[in-house]
Amino acid sequence: MDKLVIEGGSRLSGTIRVSGSKNACLPILAATLLTGDECNISNSPDLRDVSTMLEILSSLGRRAVRSGDSIKVSSGEADSHTALYELVSTMRASIVVLGPLLAKYGEAKVSFPGGCVIGPRPIDLHLKGLRAIGADISIKEGYIIARAKKLRGAQVYLGGHFGSSVLATANTLMAAVLADGKTVIENAACEPEIVDLAGFLTAMGAVIDGAGTPTVTVSGVKKLKGADYRIIPDRIEVGTYMIAAVLTGGDLFLEEARIEHNLALLDKLKETGGVVREKENGIRVYREREVIRATDITTNTYPGFPTDLQAQMMSLMIGADGISVITEKIYPDRFIHISEMNRMGAGIRLEGSTAIIKGNGTLSGAPVMASDLRASAALVLAGLVAEGQTEISRIYHLDRGYEHIEDKLSAVGAKIWREKEQ
Ligand code: EPZ
Repeated sequence: MDKLVIEGGSRLSGTIRVSGSKNACLPILAATLLTGDECNISNSPDLRDVSTMLEILSSLGRRAVRSGDSIKVSSGEADSHTALYELVSTMRASIVVLGPLLAKYGEAKVSFPGGCVIGPRPIDLHLKGLRAIGADISIKEGYIIARAKKLRGAQVYLGGHFGSSVLATANTLMAAVLADGKTVIENAACEPEIVDLAGFLTAMGAVIDGAGTPTVTVSGVKKLKGADYRIIPDRIEVGTYMIAAVLTGGDLFLEEARIEHNLALLDKLKETGGVVREKENGIRVYREREVIRATDITTNTYPGFPTDLQAQMMSLMIGADGISVITEKIYPDRFIHISEMNRMGAGIRLEGSTAIIKGNGTLSGAPVMASDLRASAALVLAGLVAEGQTEISRIYHLDRGYEHIEDKLSAVGAKIWREKEQ
């Protein structure tokens, strides 16, 4: 296994070209199951999770071939409708093949996804959406078995205990595009990745209104054709590097970043003393003040503050000039990074799903362990400003969602490199 080694103390300065969005790419690759025609998906990030989705497509009988940042998906010999436990268990987002398989073949068998370190990952809203449009769903031997002679449009409310669900919206949307009649999804997720998925489905011939708003209307069509499509930039990668710029007192230009995808974060970064400048083809972020100001954050569904940037903001708050409070409303247990940060000298206390960050902390480098994708990114940020050397083990978590992170950071002045773990 690999580890990342970071020598803290560098101010980051220069340009980082942002990769395509992992969380747009995964459902869009799943949506290629809705047609037997060839699809070309460009700006696809070279990540472990994307490779896992390509393996799943191949196991379902598709030919999925990457060439640079473009992935060509075409129909293969036999079409299977079973997404196997061995693959689904490595990536929870695999659940998003359920809707397209059901819509295209009238049946689907997908291994029940496990939970993960950020908390239980229920799928009740996915099943509610598919049942609403006529799917007969049972759970057998750890598999979800879905069948439907014909899916029929319906109205369905997809709000759960924690609000809307991104992938439940995606699954229901992808099933509805081939259903008979009109489907209205209420309390749909509004994330940019849903808008991107709807853009791809529309390019395939689907009829969708309201993507990006809480009410999405789909008029079912008989058939979808292949399409070429370019994935949006990864707003969570963008946010991670924006925070790095403010944290290190640096000055970064994030090429291809879109200001409208990160308004909640930018609002908070300005509060902490960051300066944000929208440019022709990206965003410049730097810090003018010597001191980082403390702030309070509550995560929420889009356009609220993204849970996927919660851990990274915590790294920023450790050195802020006072007490900061971070409340996690989407995954109440998503605080596994606190123990590792405290090992580096942070002063963070957890009260339920609210973290209190003492501030005015100076971090010292230490051997730490990556646990989940975004917590790992937060440890990289902490290592960038810690005194001395930080070693992050189990960075396969990081490789799931950040394309060439050490190369991108080294190119703007970070002292970071990858080593084999002994
Ligand atoms: C997507 O996961 C993202 N993953 C996650 O990013 C992200 O954290 C999450 O949305 C929230 O923004 C992908 O897009 C591949 P949810 P998803 O369904 O769709 C509850 C990353 O780091 N819920 O929006 O699985 C759930 O427990 C990953 O890139 C139900 O109750 O998340 C959570 O509390 C991590 N019932 C809340 O809703 C359901 O049926 C939001 O989850 C489904 C979800």
